[in-house]
Amino acid sequence: TIKIIMDTDPGIDDAAALTMALNDPEIDLRLVTTVAGNVTVDKTTKNAQKILRFFNKDVPVAAGAKQPLIKEFEDAARIHGESGMPGYDFPEDLPKPLDKTAVEALHDEIMSSDEPITLVPTGSYTNIALLFSEHPEVKDHIERIVAMGGSLGLGNMTSAAEFNVFTDPDAAKIVYQSGIPIVMVGLDITMQALLTPESLSKLEHMNKTGKMLHDIISNDGDNSEAGIAMHDVNTIFYLLHPEAITTEAMWIDVITDGPAIGETVGDIRGAYHDGETNADVCVDIDSAAFNKWFLEEVAAINY
Ligand code: BDR
Ligand code: CA
Repeated sequence: TIKIIMDTDPGIDDAAALTMALNDPEIDLRLVTTVAGNVTVDKTTKNAQKILRFFNKDVPVAAGAKQPLIKEFEDAARIHGESGMPGYDFPEDLPKPLDKTAVEALHDEIMSSDEPITLVPTGSYTNIALLFSEHPEVKDHIERIVAMGGSLGLGNMTSAAEFNVFTDPDAAKIVYQSGIPIVMVGLDITMQALLTPESLSKLEHMNKTGKMLHDIISNDGDNSEAGIAMHDVNTIFYLLHPEAITTEAMWIDVITDGPAIGETVGDIRGAYHDGETNADVCVDIDSAAFNKWFLEEVAAINY
């Protein structure tokens, strides 16, 4: 099994990614940390807990950063709704999150694990950047970072920037300069692997999980006739099916100010960084395989 920690801001696609991570037998989800992003951190924490409660799983949850390192916080409620996870009535009686911060919980879990952990951030990378500056010793105990965010092509927030990196570019810069192997799961593939309308309608009558996902995904403001991007779910798909995704090694620089703030610049010709690389960037995905896998994962949950 692959030991992971998800650092997340649910968020509709985050909720779907959590669903897969919690239920796939190949994945051992050790901890969930939350960050402000799609909505405030109070709401993203509640939403993560709602998903755990839905599946009756007691993976610990620790609440993290309320705002980016330097930049002012701007949410994405226009896409994910005021609650961040609209369209389904989850029970509201939720346990308290851990009595420690996301940074402390990350530190403790990483340092006490007998095997190196894979970090899977699906929100902005504020918690992880804080972790690296406060506890640099964790870096040797991290297998790699499989991060949703960034784009070699256009952004979805500004013409240059993808939302997670745009939200906290200073954190993203720290993470890309950390020296830890990073897989950039960005818009280059997540905008290819849309969940098709056919897949979405199959979910509705599949089982309780399918109905829940159908109802929240149907409320995603980021949809088109071709389908709905399930950005964060691509991280879990990559972990389980790397053969369905093409990656290219390159150096990623993060722009932290000016009109391109939040842009991830890929040195695709190795011209600026002399052929050195710090990331494997996902550039192509088998979209039909993604849809097939998504439906199979949900069907296998049997709840
Ligand atoms: C990313 O932004 C968020 O709104 C999604 O949850 C995803 O993590 C896509 O740009
Ligand atoms: Ca997210």
